[in-house]
Amino acid sequence: MSSANAFNDALTDHHGETPIDMAELRRYRQGNGATDAALESAVQEVRRLTLAWSDGRTGQFPLMWLRDHCACDQCRHPLTRERLYKLLDDPLWERFATDEALASFEFDDRSLTLTWQDGHVSRFDAGWLHQRCPGHELTTLLPTATPWVEAFTPAHINHADFVGNGDGRSRWASALLRDGLVMLDQGPCELEEVSRIAESIGPMRSTNFGGRFDVRSVPNPNNAAYTAIGLELHTDLPNWRQPPDIQLLYCLENDAEGGESSFADGFAVAEILREENPEAFRVLSETPIDFRFQDDGDDIAVREPVIDLDGDGRPREIRFNNWIRDTLSLPADRIEAWYEAYRAFWQILRRPERRVELTLEPGQMIAFDNRRVLHGRNAFDPNTGKRHLQGTYLDLDMLQSHLRVLSR
Ligand code: OGA
Ligand code: ZN
Ligand code: ZN
Repeated sequence: MSSANAFNDALTDHHGETPIDMAELRRYRQGNGATDAALESAVQEVRRLTLAWSDGRTGQFPLMWLRDHCACDQCRHPLTRERLYKLLDDPLWERFATDEALASFEFDDRSLTLTWQDGHVSRFDAGWLHQRCPGHELTTLLPTATPWVEAFTPAHINHADFVGNGDGRSRWASALLRDGLVMLDQGPCELEEVSRIAESIGPMRSTNFGGRFDVRSVPNPNNAAYTAIGLELHTDLPNWRQPPDIQLLYCLENDAEGGESSFADGFAVAEILREENPEAFRVLSETPIDFRFQDDGDDIAVREPVIDLDGDGRPREIRFNNWIRDTLSLPADRIEAWYEAYRAFWQILRRPERRVELTLEPGQMIAFDNRRVLHGRNAFDPNTGKRHLQGTYLDLDMLQSHLRVLSR
């Protein structure tokens, strides 16, 4: 199975040894959250092995877990690396609980070899086990979302560095995951450059506006963005059950008067609201309201709260868009309180210290997390010049995937 694992195979450790192939493309020896600490002891206890490494890490590995994670050719498909082994159907199942499942084991500083009662042999790389030691979190390769502080300014990456062989792409992707907003500078003023950039990361996320859309003033608009009017801070497509994650807006022309852009970190603002006005925060996070888009061909609607919280009570998604908000359908005695709460959120969003203002220049592309960061633009005067942006969306999964692959 050696050919299945280009990255770890190519990597020999300080002792010149090749790691055991664990059907895993992420590094598990040296760097990126991997260690070359030596495995120093392996002791069998009731239903588990206790392992200890030279850096002081110790952990208990249930036999059931070890059997489930065997990476041999029969247990993991040698090409897809996906699991073939079915723990739940293993005739040894009852014996994992009685210690009889394991016939023998041996280890050295780099590996652990288990022989099961049915004769199956499982070999583990010590670095791989170290990384996945129960009770220790596997180091994430992705930056965590960090709220904007006052006077936040987005990172700028040059287009040439983004498409080159250096670390421009990882810096761009990391900034986007961390800040939810990043600028690309000095790109070509070419139609579809936004599509090329998007597709180098993942498939464009299509919506009722297509896979890639043009933002400019048109004669028969079906959307406020396709007029010259100002767009207050908003998130796109809150009327979808799954609004697009990442938005890319590529500026091709911007010489009309007006049209300046603004952005605000919705998660940071939600946290301020929680602190300053807990009742408003509660109302906005606990009250689903209706969002809706309608034109000749589509009628796309959903009922969700403005601030959606995850299981730990942290903001997971902001839905805020005044022209996509549908009839406020609530019991009469809750309507005014909802508007009050909505206004309290809006007033924090409007504070200058919470906003980033900038003017997109031709060849610049702004990218942002549409479910976290709100965006807007001032009105522009189409009689004074042209304004043309091309935009598309990406799934966050593909952005995260991109950065994980880059960090191999
Ligand atoms: C949009 C939008 C911003 C702009 O297309 O959804 O918000 O600067 N456009 O025109
Ligand atoms: Zn196996
Ligand atoms: Zn928008």
